[in-house]
Amino acid sequence: MVSAGWVATDGRRTQKRDHSENQIGEKDLDADDIYIRQLTPGDAALYRGIRLAGLKESPEVFGSTFQAEFTKPLAWFFNRLSSSDVFGAFLDAKILGVAGFATRPGEKEAHKGLLWGMYVRPEARGAGIARRLVEAVIAHARRRVELIQLSVVVGNEHARRLYAGLGFVEYGIEKNSLKFDGRYYDEILMAKELARASDHEPVVDAGLFAAGRPGREGIPSGRGAHDHLRAETVP
Ligand SMILES: CC(C)(COP(=O)(O)OP(=O)(O)OC[C@H]1O[C@@H](n2cnc3c(N)ncnc32)[C@H](O)[C@@H]1OP(=O)(O)O)[C@@H](O)C(=O)NCCC(=O)NCCS
Repeated sequence: MVSAGWVATDGRRTQKRDHSENQIGEKDLDADDIYIRQLTPGDAALYRGIRLAGLKESPEVFGSTFQAEFTKPLAWFFNRLSSSDVFGAFLDAKILGVAGFATRPGEKEAHKGLLWGMYVRPEARGAGIARRLVEAVIAHARRRVELIQLSVVVGNEHARRLYAGLGFVEYGIEKNSLKFDGRYYDEILMAKELARASDHEPVVDAGLFAAGRPGREGIPSGRGAHDHLRAETVP
């Protein structure tokens, strides 16, 4: 079962929602069994599966669409994982959630990072997986940028709460930011500065995070392959 009352990285005990019904197949979802690691091109098939599931299930919250990515060959996802920093949350071999990180293109914006593509499978929600993924992205970003930005579609209160709880601050609204099926969607712009001493997250590389309680499981991956700033086209 999901552990109740985890201790957050700042020492606060988090008030967990009741998710005793969370199950993956026959197995209860135990947060201690979940681990987070950066995806590699070899994860292309897994990534394609969960990415398309997210685009299909929540079409209004992503900048891209199911139709646009469904037709892409596996090589396209392989290439994305070669040029992007995407983290996955795993229970055994099953991927339950993903979150992406990118630096802004161009010299003048290279100090800014972007969190994108956040998604957790419905049957795995409420176990703290999104929180673990965002923390992994934050830890990864600390060595690369000075702040992380993201946008949340107005009305996506779960995501908004998630980010606010991890120190992201709202700094604006982009009206009509997305247009989908003839409808416009405004987006809330949020950012988290990484340089302040008051930050709570431990400064570790996020290549590999064992699962479990926030703040105690940062394990450097030793991959060291992402120490350069990199621009990419963000979906
Ligand atoms: C938003 C989403 C990523 C949350 O994933 P999750 O693994 O269930 O989130 P967590 O269990 O880590 O919750 C972390 C925090 O998020 C907020 N939150 C997430 N789901 C919530 C819910 N159903 N009700 C209230 N708060 C919620 C809470 O602040 C929560 O902290 P708490 O449990 O201490 O209250 C998931 O619902 C999802 O994939 N939604 C569809 C795609 C999407 O909206 N992506 C974000 C695009 S910006």
